Amino acid sequence: MLPGIRVLAAIPNFVSMYHQLNYQSRHSSGEEPQAQLPAVRYRTWLGENEDQLAPQLNLVAKWQPLSIAAEQYRMAATRLVLSNEGRESTVLEITSALKGEGKTTTVVNIGYTLARDLGKKTLLIDCDFRCPALHKYVNVPAEAGLFELLDGKTRLQDCLSTIDEVACSVLLVGKSDGDISELNRIQQLKGFLPQLQQHFDFIIINTPPVLPSATMGILASLEHVLIVVIRAGATPKHVVQQAFTMLGLTAEAQVILNAVEAQSMPAYMYGYPMTYGRERTVGTIAR
Ligand SMILES: Nc1ncnc2c1ncn2[C@@H]1O[C@H](COP(=O)(O)OP(=O)(O)OP(=O)(O)O)[C@@H](O)[C@H]1O
Ligand SMILES: [Mg+2]
Repeated sequence: MLPGIRVLAAIPNFVSMYHQLNYQSRHSSGEEPQAQLPAVRYRTWLGENEDQLAPQLNLVAKWQPLSIAAEQYRMAATRLVLSNEGRESTVLEITSALKGEGKTTTVVNIGYTLARDLGKKTLLIDCDFRCPALHKYVNVPAEAGLFELLDGKTRLQDCLSTIDEVACSVLLVGKSDGDISELNRIQQLKGFLPQLQQHFDFIIINTPPVLPSATMGILASLEHVLIVVIRAGATPKHVVQQAFTMLGLTAEAQVILNAVEAQSMPAYMYGYPMTYGRERTVGTIAR
C-alpha cells in the first residue's frame, strides 16, 4: 500500500458474488435470489464473457443491498457525508489512473447510496465524453443532457434523467451541434456548477482516467473531493503513483480499492450478519 492513502472502502469483486448467487439459485428450493432482480433477467447476469457483468448489475447497492459490497459503499458514503458536513453542497470527482478500474461503478453505487440510505439529493454528471456510461444505469432518460444545458437550450428540470425513485438524478452527456471540445465544455461546466449546487447536496462527476486523458487535468479544478479508484491486484503501484503526481495529490489521498478478491478481504467482514432479522442471506461471498 502507498503511504498517505486514506482508504474509504474496499469493494469486493462482485463477479464472484453473482456466480455464487447463480449457483445458489440452481441448487436451492424456496425463494429464488433472482426474485430480487426484477429488471434484469437471470440469464443476463453474466455476459458472454463470464468474467464480465451485465452493466446494470454493477449497481449492487440496488440489487444486493445487504451484500458486503453494498455495505462498503455505505461506509464510503457515510464517511463522505461526515467529512463534508460543513458544506451546503459537495462536488465529488471519481477517477482512476487507467481505463476500466471501476470509476463509473463507484459513481453510481455511491450516488445511489447517498440518495437512498443517507437522504442526500444527489446528481451524477457524465463528464467522460469519449466513453460515457451513466446512461446504462438510467431507467427514465431525459430528452436532453449536459451539452444542451450548457448551450442554454433547455432547463435543468428537462435534462435530469433518473435511476429509480431515489433522489439520485443523472445528467447524461447529451448532444451538441456546436463545440465539443472537452476542455471548453469543462470550463463551461465550472461556471455552471454553482447553479447546480443550489439544487443538490452532492454532485458526483464521472470522469475519464487520469493517465491517458488530458481532460482530467482540468476536471480536477472543479471538485471539493477527489477519489481515486484503484483496481486491487491489477493496477501497478508505480502507475498509481504517476496518477497521484499528475493530479498533484500531495496530502492524504482518498482511495477506493475495487474488485478485491474474497481471500484478500479482512476476515472480520465475514462474521457480521448480512441479513436483517430472519431474511435469507443471498449476498455473502464464499470464502
Ligand atoms: N467490484 C467489482 N467487481 C467485479 N467487477 C467489477 C467491479 N467494479 C467494476 N467491475 C467491472 O469492471 C468493468 C469496468 O467497470 P467500470 O465501467 O465501472 O470502469 P470505468 O473505470 O468506469 O471504465 P472506463 O474507464 O472504461 O470508463 C466492468 O465490466 C464492471 O462490471
Ligand atoms: Mg467509466
